[in-house]
Amino acid sequence: MTPEGLPARRAALRILDAVLRRGQTMDNAAQAARDLPPADAALASAIAGETLRRLPDLDALIDGATRQPLPDDSKARMVLRLALAQKIGLGTADHALVATALPLVDGGPRRLVHGVLGTLLRKGMPTFDAPRLPQAVEQRWNAAWGDEVVQAARRAIAHRPPLDLSFADHAAESEFPEGLSLAPLHRRLDHHGSITMLPGFGEGRWWVQDLAASLPARLIPAGARRVLDACAAPGGKTMQLAAAGHEVTALDRSESRLARLADNLKRTGLKAETVVADALDWSPTEPFDAVLLDAPCSATGTFRRHPEVLYRARPSIISGSAELQSQLLERSAAWVRPGGSLVYSVCSLEPEEGEQGIEAFLSARPDFRIEPAPPLVDGVTPHPRGWLRVLPDMLEAQGGLDGFFTAHLVRTA
Ligand SMILES: C[S@@+](CC[C@H](N)C(=O)[O-])C[C@H]1O[C@@H](n2cnc3c(N)ncnc32)[C@H](O)[C@@H]1O
Repeated sequence: MTPEGLPARRAALRILDAVLRRGQTMDNAAQAARDLPPADAALASAIAGETLRRLPDLDALIDGATRQPLPDDSKARMVLRLALAQKIGLGTADHALVATALPLVDGGPRRLVHGVLGTLLRKGMPTFDAPRLPQAVEQRWNAAWGDEVVQAARRAIAHRPPLDLSFADHAAESEFPEGLSLAPLHRRLDHHGSITMLPGFGEGRWWVQDLAASLPARLIPAGARRVLDACAAPGGKTMQLAAAGHEVTALDRSESRLARLADNLKRTGLKAETVVADALDWSPTEPFDAVLLDAPCSATGTFRRHPEVLYRARPSIISGSAELQSQLLERSAAWVRPGGSLVYSVCSLEPEEGEQGIEAFLSARPDFRIEPAPPLVDGVTPHPRGWLRVLPDMLEAQGGLDGFFTAHLVRTA
């Protein structure tokens, strides 16, 4: 007899394997569950996600209960990780854990998995309120931001973050019935279900956007008429810019992501011209009053929503990203009229992709200066160099923020 919930666990195993061994994103890896009923597919993603939130601590538990360390990518270790994560993160009952774990190692070390699980479940599980991050990430962030920020990041990864909504205008925001407002046109909800059921979704009164991700568009001067959103899809910042009354050109090299942007514009009734092109070989016919470059990056700032980024962002990926960002900055700079603005941003916690990239750009380009950012959100104090650096210890009591970097540069000549 097949235990209830086994297909979801099988899919969770495939997702975890795709992320850890093949470096896939959770979104791509979750394709492994696409043939399952929606509830099972959601459970598979939740189990894999809860596992990635606390992988180093789960491994320490497993290693403490085995005589010989299990190979890192062995099926036995993967299955044990998934089972323990369900206990800790989802509160699954012991009998259900065991019944759905053992068939996953059929033909393999079933007795070993049974024994280790039994031992650990009898001992009782720690809660892991501040699970460790991968060692390489902790070392890197410790060097860049210090131990307090690493501790805050540990606390942050334990939970799924709150849901932030951005509104097109004050009327739409004031009609929204609930939530905490941490900035104009923003509400924060403790909501983890489907967003389509929230009031105003169908009418396009708001869109989902982490508060940190809404900061760059807030730096574009109100007087800028023509604005280019140079890496625009799926369009959170395009919608902010269009809602603020700018004439927006939204460029992205990904046709499928631009199609999502077009859907978002349709739902919200906002307008922008869309262009499918690679920013590295596209040129506008005339310069813009402002360019927003929300560059592709390691995305390590989004670790609360996408814990897998911490496993994908190896040093070579980060340096490759920084190289691409420098090329994109150089191209975008050429499209800004003298006196115009270039706002740069990345959802990354790596200084190489933020501070260091901007310092290198400014050294090479004396025709640009930093315009000091105003304090847009209480608790996110602008850096003395003028940029905004959002770290995991900011606004922690209110639910925290994604890690983020944004700088407003002005072309002086
Ligand atoms: C961080 S995401 C942008 C998120 C978007 N600004 C928002 O707020 O919804 C980066 C985007 O850059 C696009 N991209 C990456 N390399 C590009 C290039 N060379 N030219 C144009 N777009 C590029 C990717 O397709 C991706 O959609």
